Amino acid sequence: MATIKVSPRRLRERMEQLGTIGRDPAGGLTRLPFAPAHVQAVQRSAQMMREAGLDAGVDEFGNLIGQRSGRREAALLAGSHLDTVPQGGIFDGALGVVAAIECAQTLREANRPLQHGLAVMAFADEEGHAFGAGTLSSRALVGEIGRSRLAQLRDETGRSVDDYLRARTHGLPPAKVPAQVGAYVELHIEQGPVLERMGRVVAAVESITGILRTPVVIEGRASHAGTTPMPGRADALVGAAELVLAVRELALAERDRAVGTIGRAHVLPGATNVIPGRVELTVELRSPDAQVLETLRDAVEERSREIADRHHLTVRLGAWDLSPPVPLDPRMRDAVVRAIERCGHPPLTLPSWAGHDAGVMSRYVPAGMIFVVSTGGLSHSPDERTPWEAVETGAQVLLETLLFLDDAPDMSRRLPLAYAAG
Ligand code: GLV
Ligand code: MN
Ligand code: MN
Repeated sequence: MATIKVSPRRLRERMEQLGTIGRDPAGGLTRLPFAPAHVQAVQRSAQMMREAGLDAGVDEFGNLIGQRSGRREAALLAGSHLDTVPQGGIFDGALGVVAAIECAQTLREANRPLQHGLAVMAFADEEGHAFGAGTLSSRALVGEIGRSRLAQLRDETGRSVDDYLRARTHGLPPAKVPAQVGAYVELHIEQGPVLERMGRVVAAVESITGILRTPVVIEGRASHAGTTPMPGRADALVGAAELVLAVRELALAERDRAVGTIGRAHVLPGATNVIPGRVELTVELRSPDAQVLETLRDAVEERSREIADRHHLTVRLGAWDLSPPVPLDPRMRDAVVRAIERCGHPPLTLPSWAGHDAGVMSRYVPAGMIFVVSTGGLSHSPDERTPWEAVETGAQVLLETLLFLDDAPDMSRRLPLAYAAG
């Protein structure tokens, strides 16, 4: 049985507090990375970190880090992200940050120092909606997204990631992630229906899906919606509609091995009586199998060419942004399973169809994840919910995992941090 217990009341209070930051009048939470609501969430989380006895600061890539040192050189990292999708829920990301802070505070109050250092991570941009690249901040941290790309990637306001990073509007001190890392652990809601259907609360994650995303611009010819005969039109939205259906058909043909989504489309000039001359959209493909992703990408490119020819359009696909599929370290999966059992729950492992910063970290250091149940399987929605008892279970499993890793044989590796020298 667990001996040191997280505080369910404090967990809930903090989740609810963060859940008020970025309320969208249209529903849910909108905390786009680096926007004022996100900055406020970073500042509030930094305060929680200090309450937990951690030094809080923000690194060159906008990641909030709350840390304390241990006897060993290597640190255990735990956390998630504080940004949300537009009109998202309060649990996606924030849960992993708040729970990691709770573990730090519980350990301190129980006078149970870890041998390792401890660093709570709150990555800045995980969702990838604003700048088009998922897990942007963790990938920047390890140099997978270079500085020139950070200067190029712009959000809808025209500001680049680099512009935001230089501004440091949060006013927090500079910080760095410890380079020698024992392990990274992330608690997250499942965001899908599997746990609930199985009547389960918690699982260890065994792998993280691969994701390919690209912006697409379809150009036709805007003209009068009344006087232009139907034959010979170059209607960009007709091409977009065919592309939506093609992505669906191609993903369905892979059966349960892939999903495909066009989640964003902007029709221009966007007038009732004008044939659409231009549509800007995004295509997203996911599969746990790298080969399937490649096949799907080629097929989408091929179908785009066909659609362009058939409808007298130009279809331009941008550079594909790839997050490759990754298995999580089996030693970490086993550590989480053991922690789950210690908390009185049956062992279970699941794959993740959502992307996570743990996927990036796992390419360099042992990384593991804990999933807790999502009510109705819903996430990326204002209706995202997780029962408070499951939140407590997840945080307790995180604590048990950290305690187990602290005593386990050394697995530490060096993170290739991309910080500027000096
Ligand atoms: C992150 O939530 C993603 O899977 O897109
Ligand atoms: Mn998330
Ligand atoms: Mn998300």
